[in-house]
Amino acid sequence: MSNDKFIALSLPNMAGNEWKYVKDCLDTGWISSVGSYVTKFEQMVADFAGAKYGIAAVNGTAALHISLLLSGVKQHDYVILPNLTFVASANSIKYLGADPLLIDADPLLWQMDLDLLEEFLSTQTEVKGKELFYKKDGRRIGAIMPVHILGNMCDMDRFASIVNQYPLPVVEDATEALGTTYKGKSAGTFSPLAAFSFNGNKIISTGGGGVIVTDDEALAKHAKHLTTTAKASADEYYHDEVGYNYRLVNVLAAIGVAQMELLPSFIERKKQIVDFYKKELTGVADIRFQQELPDVNTNGWLFTIQTDKQKALLDHLNANKILSRRFWMPMNKLPMYKDCVYIRHIDRSDYIYNTCLSIPSSTNITDEELAIVTREIKAAIG
Ligand SMILES: Cc1ncc(COP(=O)(O)O)c(C=O)c1O
Repeated sequence: MSNDKFIALSLPNMAGNEWKYVKDCLDTGWISSVGSYVTKFEQMVADFAGAKYGIAAVNGTAALHISLLLSGVKQHDYVILPNLTFVASANSIKYLGADPLLIDADPLLWQMDLDLLEEFLSTQTEVKGKELFYKKDGRRIGAIMPVHILGNMCDMDRFASIVNQYPLPVVEDATEALGTTYKGKSAGTFSPLAAFSFNGNKIISTGGGGVIVTDDEALAKHAKHLTTTAKASADEYYHDEVGYNYRLVNVLAAIGVAQMELLPSFIERKKQIVDFYKKELTGVADIRFQQELPDVNTNGWLFTIQTDKQKALLDHLNANKILSRRFWMPMNKLPMYKDCVYIRHIDRSDYIYNTCLSIPSSTNITDEELAIVTREIKAAIG
């Protein structure tokens, strides 16, 4: 075994009908925002997730932005968000002139800590009429955005039992969790509107892309309207509200259709990768794994380990052409979010950030490459 070859973290895997469907778009000229692949891709994603409607968008961030907007989030609102997430979740809130209100992470699941959330809602908020407010400054809390971090999920029954006591719309950031289920129900179907992402490192990819899913016909129509510049007339440039040019183009949706055909096999491969890493790395140095609840079946999107020897391991792997990445920097450490309200006891996000690293998990990684990764991890810290 040698590792002369670079082993990537999470590559797109174009193994099916991508060329054929893209060629079809090019041959017919249907490359832009209208076309049969867009509609087909939307329906395939919605069907897979068990939702009625899918609305394709240029990326997951745009899908989140529109989902929040349609959930009624307004300027100066707060939106409750885990501190440990990718920056796009927070940005989508900021685009509406609202601010993230950050909750620390659960030490084992790495999702939003539900004990903290419960305590925060019961002690620091008040309901007036049909709205929820943060007592300290009187600002409205417009929504809560659980993020299914690394394709994992928190206890969604408990989440619902906490949140349903308050007038608090939920918008799931399910961008990483296509294929994950809780008690057999798919990520993305626990809120009236939710967003998936199909950027280059996701379980399926359209290069860049996203889909909003919903069961509500009126919301679906409005989401489609807003993502297509709110054009209200077929034959005139009449736009009836401020819309967005957020529609996914047909040529990318064509890739998406081909990728959706492969999704079941990708999920299977991700599970093999998870099983392999868990078997090989259990008991190696102080390595720990992200915990999963028995009711959760994850899509295994990006395998991430935890070790106090994070830096030494990262340096060794990257020096050996095995691309590994630290977790995202928590939102409270970024300049534009450092002054956000941050609910915590001890800062667990910081500990997770300083101890976790993601390791190669592409669906097209070979068994030999997997063996090289674990061999080098053992060489570095075993
Ligand atoms: C947690 C999370 N939220 C939002 C996004 C945004 O998705 P996109 O990159 O498609 O805009 C991503 C993916 O990058 C993500 O991982």
